[in-house]
Amino acid sequence: MSRTHVVAVVNQKGGVAKTTSVASLGAAFAQMGRRVLLVDLDPQASLTFSLGLDPDAVEVSVHQVLLGTAGAAGAIHRTDDGVDLLPSTIELAGVEAQLLARPGREFVLRTVLEDVLPGYDVVLLDCAPSLGVLTLNALTAAGQVLVPLQCEMLSHRGVGQLLDTVADVQRILNRDLTVLGVLPTMYDGRTTHARAVLADVQERYGLTMFAPIPKSVRFAEAPAVGRSILATARGSKGAVAYCDVARAVLRSWGERPRRPLNR
Ligand SMILES: Nc1ncnc2c1ncn2[C@@H]1O[C@H](COP(=O)(O)OP(=O)(O)OP(=O)(O)O)[C@@H](O)[C@H]1O
Ligand SMILES: [Mg+2]
Repeated sequence: MSRTHVVAVVNQKGGVAKTTSVASLGAAFAQMGRRVLLVDLDPQASLTFSLGLDPDAVEVSVHQVLLGTAGAAGAIHRTDDGVDLLPSTIELAGVEAQLLARPGREFVLRTVLEDVLPGYDVVLLDCAPSLGVLTLNALTAAGQVLVPLQCEMLSHRGVGQLLDTVADVQRILNRDLTVLGVLPTMYDGRTTHARAVLADVQERYGLTMFAPIPKSVRFAEAPAVGRSILATARGSKGAVAYCDVARAVLRSWGERPRRPLNR
């Protein structure tokens, strides 16, 4: 495999399972024999924390890498889930303002990741709930965008705005950007409401829709022990659903798992 797939996981709405999806899909791709890098682009540092690193104790993070005071390779950590992580800290909150004054500010992430990309098959970018400069950096560095969507009333409204931003990025910053699809999360198939939201989004935007990730309390347990749900609740419906989505994503790339899944 020569090409590195860089996927930005984006939704400006908060709490829709962006971070959970990055951690879970990352672990699934690693189990399928891929070399995976996850990048935490959120000053909340939830991904960093949920993969077992204490953001307060991280010395070199994506913040220094974006400001050019450290190289990406030196800031990357290996995690227990078999994926590499470029961590974030609260300091990242100041970077938006610092980048704003720079020429080419949307291209910074793309440039700093260039050297490390050849070492990975899949890179997932975990974005903050915003369409600010950091998210524009993610959309500029990515080849594709994955949109986690919580199946609840009005969730489609944010999708329209997000797709407008994606269209702007395609026009101005990154011609090659495509939408990988929508990933319905926290799905409760027993409610007609959740099903109606899914059908509505599919009809409205005509995007690829991955199989929904079920709502499960098991997701709340994983970050506390610094592992993804694939490690803490391997056979659970949620873990299996993320593995299925990872396989579907590989298929969309014309690829297959390298080793059979060991569930
Ligand atoms: N399928 C699920 N079922 C139940 N709870 C879930 C599921 N997926 C995620 N959660 C929980 O929902 C909360 C929000 O998830 P997460 O942090 O991944 O969202 P996010 O979109 O990254 O949030 P933010 O916008 O703040 O970055 C977390 O407590 C997480 O454990
Ligand atoms: Mg998050």
